[in-house]
Amino acid sequence: MTGNHTPPLIEMEALTHGFWRSRIMFAGVELGIFDALARKPMTEEELTAELGYNRRAVGILLGALGGVGLLEVDDNRYRVADRWAEILVSGGAMSQTHLIMHMRQMWDSWGRLDDVVRTGRRRQLPPLNATDEEARVRAFIGGMHEGSRPSARELAARLDLSGVNRMLDVGGGPGTYCIELARRRPELHATLLDRILPLEVARENIEAADLEDRIERRLGDALTDDYGENYDLVLISQLLHAYGPQENANIIRKAAEALRPGGRLIVNEFALLRGRHAPACAAVFGVNMLVNTDEGQTYTADEITGWMRDAGLVDLGFEDLVCRSTIFHGTRPVG
Ligand SMILES: C[S@@+](CC[C@H](N)C(=O)[O-])C[C@H]1O[C@@H](n2cnc3c(N)ncnc32)[C@H](O)[C@@H]1O
Repeated sequence: MTGNHTPPLIEMEALTHGFWRSRIMFAGVELGIFDALARKPMTEEELTAELGYNRRAVGILLGALGGVGLLEVDDNRYRVADRWAEILVSGGAMSQTHLIMHMRQMWDSWGRLDDVVRTGRRRQLPPLNATDEEARVRAFIGGMHEGSRPSARELAARLDLSGVNRMLDVGGGPGTYCIELARRRPELHATLLDRILPLEVARENIEAADLEDRIERRLGDALTDDYGENYDLVLISQLLHAYGPQENANIIRKAAEALRPGGRLIVNEFALLRGRHAPACAAVFGVNMLVNTDEGQTYTADEITGWMRDAGLVDLGFEDLVCRSTIFHGTRPVG
């Protein structure tokens, strides 16, 4: 590492070496190290015996996890650092282990960024067997649930839900938003449209929230299937970045047509608010879509409101939500 601590070099080092730290954290989750050490603090030898990995490698990895502060050591026994435990250990209310595994699964596709920029095409990964595909979708959708809870709560608190009795959540995934909105308004009945595996994760979350009688899961394709009609509210959250402009214009047109006159469309996205470079998190998230989808990217506020305007919606506007995302709203005109 460089001994020169001028600010640009410190920043450079954070960028060049940052992935080392990401990767050891991913390994701690993926290899069950944090979960095992949360059950009981262990020495290097005890953990190796418990998990059956390579002794030398376990020692080096534990040292690094301790070095960056994710683990602490007492009397040669490692344990998860108190302030990290609720995040890094699976199963708790604040756990982020699905999100961390989802990020770990992005490793290969991000490693091909140069190729994608040279050719304009992402390299298709070989199809996964059914078990690995289920694990991939569970990490993705479970990670969405862990990551979206604060913004879902904030949206539910901010939206005026009076008169909202029927809503449609297009690409609703784990059901995080439907659940928070239904909790907020007891009269609300929601339909969550998504694919088969996300709907399975949604079922577990909806049951845990005791909302099976008010949230219906509907298997469908947001690009080709009809959305139904007469909804008071349609929500499209974190879906548009997976698709190209034509598909998004089509999704928004179908959503607008599914509203009753006076009904509202809410779009939640990591939107670009100044040029294509700000906020930085939305600009960088666009690269995630570049390497993981055929046509996805992040879009500007003008592009998103443009699709809403073209779909005939009025009273258009947008505002920041929490967690760096933006909510766009529009209304289907009456008459
Ligand atoms: C990034 S997740 C967002 C989940 C949720 N709306 C949220 O904001 O937390 C995108 C979701 O859209 C779903 N999705 C993507 N394309 C879809 C399609 N063509 N039809 C139905 N669902 C789709 C995915 O399965 C996934 O659950």
